[in-house]
Amino acid sequence: MQAFTYRYPVGVYFGEGAAKSALGHELASFGKTIMVAFGGGSVKRNGIYDELVSVLEAHGKRVVPFGGIMSNPTYQKVLEGARLANAEGVDAILAVGGGSVIDCSKIIAVQARTGKDVWTMQYVDHQMPAKALKLGAVVTAFGTGAEMNNGAVITNVEKRMKAPLQGAFASFAVLDPSYTMTMPMGQVVSGSFDILSHCMETYLGSPREENLSDALNEAVMRSVIRNIRQTLRQPGDKQVRSELVWAAAMGENGILKLGKTTDFQCHMLEHQVGAYTNCNHGQGLAVIHPVLYRHLYKENPRQFARLARTVWGVEPEGRSDEEVAMQGIKLLASFIKEIGLPSTFDSMGIDVTKDAPAIAHSTIRTPGCAKRFSDEELETILRECQG
Ligand code: NZQ
Ligand code: ZN
Repeated sequence: MQAFTYRYPVGVYFGEGAAKSALGHELASFGKTIMVAFGGGSVKRNGIYDELVSVLEAHGKRVVPFGGIMSNPTYQKVLEGARLANAEGVDAILAVGGGSVIDCSKIIAVQARTGKDVWTMQYVDHQMPAKALKLGAVVTAFGTGAEMNNGAVITNVEKRMKAPLQGAFASFAVLDPSYTMTMPMGQVVSGSFDILSHCMETYLGSPREENLSDALNEAVMRSVIRNIRQTLRQPGDKQVRSELVWAAAMGENGILKLGKTTDFQCHMLEHQVGAYTNCNHGQGLAVIHPVLYRHLYKENPRQFARLARTVWGVEPEGRSDEEVAMQGIKLLASFIKEIGLPSTFDSMGIDVTKDAPAIAHSTIRTPGCAKRFSDEELETILRECQG
């Protein structure tokens, strides 16, 4: 294990009725005026918005609604939210949605507390925000684990970058699995695959020898694979859903990352595909993972082989690490097909052929990846993903 400091600032309220309990405990420190941030309207249709607003009003809060946060939220939307927060004298934000709403809110929270432009501050001046509005996160679409960390992924349309920014930690997160029961099954599956992706990206980082974080991670990955299959068979089963909701949080609460430098190269490539195509995050990952891993496994075959054995159940007898590793990648690819996720960009209806050189060039390279990919190799990977 590498050296680490572990501190965790998010209070997690899990289970049916968690929102009422969370708001009851946490609202006192939230000030008078609360921005309720949400997406394209699902939370209005399923009643979650009204339920939360009535609790806020019962606690004497003034509510400032901020809706229309799109999937793959843009920096423009962040700026719009920050302007509204300042104009209305907002004291705190309650983000109600999936990763997109929560990420956008994390950055609104810091943008509203600084006179500087947060993108320039972080990417040009290399300064991290010191102050933020208070933030609470109510998860209505699980998968990203965005509620558990202060990283946000924001699309800068002008710069054609979908990139990480550091924002506010939520002081509390509400994980009520019943709030996610109205998610379309396509989003349930792509969100769940995102969990598996976070776990693999963490596992395949360094150090590459066996360690406790990886052993815990293997258990989470097996649970996610089992529960994706189960939720497809029984979409209304809340017990199964609750396992996935907690697995998503486990993927991003830092525990599996302790003592490790994570990989996340697949994510960085997918984010840039997203910047150019606005594609669904989990679907993009499903296409890229097996292709990228075929270009990566020879750099660390033992680690890939361990993943194949412990998560995919590959029997190693008489086979080299490379053969076992490759069998694991094949099983990953067939699992992606089995659960109805796409295996090519063609089947997602996106085309990166023209933009492949620009996407490859603008992709952030991660220190934990076993290989530093050249632009040419990332271009090759993108072309193989096209279909
Ligand atoms: O916008 P509305 O109408 O609310 O509909 C949303 C959206 O269409 C819908 N939805 C949410 N809750 C629902 C619901 N529909 C019915 N019932 C409900 N209860 O779900 C759709 C997808 O929502 P979105 O938030 O876009 O999805 P997701 O949670 O997958 O978030 C994706 C974003 O998070 C970033 C991604 O890059 C992408 O921008 N990520 C953030 C991470 C982080 N901060 O840690 C890590 C991830 O790797 C990821 O990059
Ligand atoms: Zn992800």
